Amino acid sequence: MADDPDRPGADEWVPPGADLAGLRRAAHECRGCELWRDATQVVFSSGRAGAAIMLVGEQPGDREDLEGKPFVGPSGRLLADAVDAAGIAREGVYVTNAVKHFRFERRGTRRIHMKPAVAHIVACRPWLEAEFEAVGPGVIVALGATAARSVLGRTVRIGEVRGRVLPPDAAGGASVFPVPVLVTTHPSALLRIEDAADRRAAYATFVDELRIAADIAQ
Ligand code: URA
Ligand code: SF4
Repeated sequence: MADDPDRPGADEWVPPGADLAGLRRAAHECRGCELWRDATQVVFSSGRAGAAIMLVGEQPGDREDLEGKPFVGPSGRLLADAVDAAGIAREGVYVTNAVKHFRFERRGTRRIHMKPAVAHIVACRPWLEAEFEAVGPGVIVALGATAARSVLGRTVRIGEVRGRVLPPDAAGGASVFPVPVLVTTHPSALLRIEDAADRRAAYATFVDELRIAADIAQ
């Protein structure tokens, strides 16, 4: 459901009522915004229908764009470790992104990550809604501000909402997801903390928050 009438968004590419395999196939054709043009491929998700926890990241990074799978780079390793540390079985999580194509800027031979704009987040949200329907999780964990913008349907400051369990109507009705949402930090933000003790403390909080999500999803 694009809020902006000038941008059609992904709606017309999302097959209604499709299962995950059908959604994944259809996403390769998506032209809901311009990000498909420069990306290598769509990066859809990993995980199965029936997973209790839906983890939503920002967008694929360089490695994900090349491999076609979400969270396979450094922040993916941290995320997998944190899921394990929280005592959550891997098959209990469904992992996806708010935006399914890599947005970047070329500098020489390098591709520098660029944050998706709100228009990209809005254009791509129909995929997230369809994934939610196909998976049926009991809780959504939004990793960082982009994911929170998509899931809650409005811009929030992470500091204001972080670690709290937000009921489905916490966004003033802007969220279309009828389950609790927990907003936490993005794993790449944890990787950027330079001081080792601070990084360990932030990681421990992150693991605790995943545990809270797992408890709700029971
Ligand atoms: N960061 C994300 O938000 N998503 C990925 O898939 C990889 C890194
Ligand atoms: Fe479609 Fe999302 Fe890719 Fe844009 S980023 S083309 S809306 S899949």
